[in-house]
Amino acid sequence: MNYTQKMLQKDALKNKTVVVTGGGSGLGKAMSQYFLELGAKVVITSRNEDKIQKAAQELTQLTSGEVLAVPCDVRHYDQVEAVVQSANKHFGSVDVLVNNAAGNFISPTERLSANAFDTIIDIVLKGTKNCTLAFGKHWIAEKQTEKVVLNIVTTYAWTGSAYVVPSATAKAGVLAMTRSLAVEWAKYGMRFNAIAPGPFPTKGAWDRLLPGNLKEQFDLAKKVPLKRVGAHQELANLAAYLVSDFSAYINGEVITIDGGEWLKGAGQFNLLEDIPEELWDMLEAMIRAKKDR
Ligand code: HXC
Ligand code: NAP
Repeated sequence: MNYTQKMLQKDALKNKTVVVTGGGSGLGKAMSQYFLELGAKVVITSRNEDKIQKAAQELTQLTSGEVLAVPCDVRHYDQVEAVVQSANKHFGSVDVLVNNAAGNFISPTERLSANAFDTIIDIVLKGTKNCTLAFGKHWIAEKQTEKVVLNIVTTYAWTGSAYVVPSATAKAGVLAMTRSLAVEWAKYGMRFNAIAPGPFPTKGAWDRLLPGNLKEQFDLAKKVPLKRVGAHQELANLAAYLVSDFSAYINGEVITIDGGEWLKGAGQFNLLEDIPEELWDMLEAMIRAKKDR
C-alpha cells in the first residue's frame, strides 16, 4: 500500500503562507515539510527557539522552501500578536493557521495540582483561542478572505478519556470552537476544520503518554482495527488537502484518521486503570525527567 507517498499535485499550496504552531517537532514538523514541498511558505512557532531554528534550517535544506521560525508561547496573547506581525512583515500575508501546539501527560486526575490542570488547558484551549483570535481579527480588519484554520484535536475530544482529563477537556473546547466559528466567521471568508488523529508515534507524545515499558504493555497498534499506527505522511496528506483550495467546500468538519481505533474502544487511556497505584510515582518521575526544554 502506498499510504506513505505524497498525495497532492506539485504546487498545490503555491502562493499560500501557512503558520504551524508547534511546527518544530512531531506532526507539526511533518505537516510543515509537506506544505513546503507543495510550494507554501511556512512559519513555525513554539517556545524553544533553538529547536525551531534548527528545524527551520533542516526543512529549508530538505525542501528548498522558505521557512520562518518565530519563538512564541501560545499561552500569551501578546506573543501571538507578535507572530501575526512578523509573519505578515516577512511574507506579506498569512493564508492558513494550523493550531497544532499541545501539552499533555498521563496522570490520575486526583494527583494533578490546579496548576498542572491549568497548564494543559492554557496550552491547548487558550493557545488555540489566542492564535485564532489574533489571526481572525487581523483578517477581518484587513478584509482578507479565503483563509483557513485547521485545528489538531484527538478522538477523545468527543468520547472523553480517563488519565488525560485536562487534554480531553481542552480538545473538546477546541472542537466546539472549530464548529462554532465555521458558521460565524464564514461570512468573512474563513473556513474552520479539524483533524482527529489516532496514534501517530512522536517523541513528544510517546515520552509523556507511554513512558518506560508502557509502550510494550499498552501497544497502541493492537487497539487499532487496522493493526498499525499512523504514518506521518498520511496525516500530512490529509492536512495539506484540508488547507488547500481543493477542500473549499469543507467547513466545520472534523476528520478522524485513526484506523478505526476510537470506534473499537472509546477513551484511549481508560486502559491505564490497570496500572497499580504504587507505580504512578515512578512513571511521573520518568515523564518529568524527559522534559526537553
Ligand atoms: C503530574 C505534572 C507532570 C506529571 C508536570 N506537572 N508534569 N504533574 N504529573 N507528569 C505539573 C508541574 O508540577 C506543574 O504544576 C505543572 O504541571 C506545569 O508544569 P511545568 O513543567 O512548569 O510546565 P511547562 O514547562 O509549561 O511544560 C508543560 C508540560 C510539558 C505540558 C508539563 O510536558 C510540555 O512542555 N509539553 C509539551 C509537549 C507535549 O506535551 N507533547 C505531547 C502532545 S500529545 P505545579 O503545581 O507543580 O506548579 C497529545 C495528544 C495525544 O496532545 C493523543 C495520543 C494518542
Ligand atoms: P509534540 O512533538 O510534542 O508537539 C507539540 C508541540 O507543541 C511541540 O512542538 C511544542 O514545542 C509545542 N508547544 C507546546 N507547548 C507550547 C506552547 N505553550 N506554546 C507554543 N508551542 C508549544 O507532539 P505531537 O505528537 O507532534 O503533537 C502534535 C499535535 O497532534 C498535538 O495537537 C497533539 O495533541 C496532536 N495529537 C497527536 C497524536 C499522536 O499520536 N502523536 C494523537 C492525537 C493528537 P515547544 O516545546 O518547543 O514549545
